[in-house]
Amino acid sequence: MAILKIARMGHPVLGRPADPVEDPTAPELRRLVEDMIETMEDAGGTGLAAPQVHVPLRVVVFFIDAARARREAASPDSPNSEGAAGVPLTVLVNPEVEPLGDERALGWEACLSVPGLVGEVPRHTAVRYRGTGLEGEAIEREATGFHARVVQHECDHLDGVVYPQRMADLSRLMFTSEMKHLAEDETQEE
Ligand code: NI
Repeated sequence: MAILKIARMGHPVLGRPADPVEDPTAPELRRLVEDMIETMEDAGGTGLAAPQVHVPLRVVVFFIDAARARREAASPDSPNSEGAAGVPLTVLVNPEVEPLGDERALGWEACLSVPGLVGEVPRHTAVRYRGTGLEGEAIEREATGFHARVVQHECDHLDGVVYPQRMADLSRLMFTSEMKHLAEDETQEE
């Protein structure tokens, strides 16, 4: 296991579509995923996509602990409290995300590839996602609120999209340390 170097916005690997994984059960993919999980945990991230560690493959990992899920479910941009139980550590190979309905909501996002900044990003409030796990098993889930947001953020990395590119209002892109100037009722704790 190893902690990998994280690519930052502007590096070409973050700006192009990643390649499909041919064999989700390959031992070298398992090693990559173990390193991605260790890197994500070391950096305190909620999710990580392979291009963020300079590997242009369609693989993401994410984990939402119960406390974070409860906090996000209580925030104004979460339309409901589903997903408030948290999401177990999930590895998705070759994921696909399908919006469920037209509803979108704004919410604050951060990214390990955009250190020090946060931005308010519109996302679909409900999605269905599919992918393959490391045992070759099919994974299909429906997600709402923060869970749906995390999946959309991570899968965007596989298409060469970093969250500021999704923002409608760039005045809502700011340094994390300046969030204190926002009204308290507009933000939640990161
Ligand atoms: Ni990111």
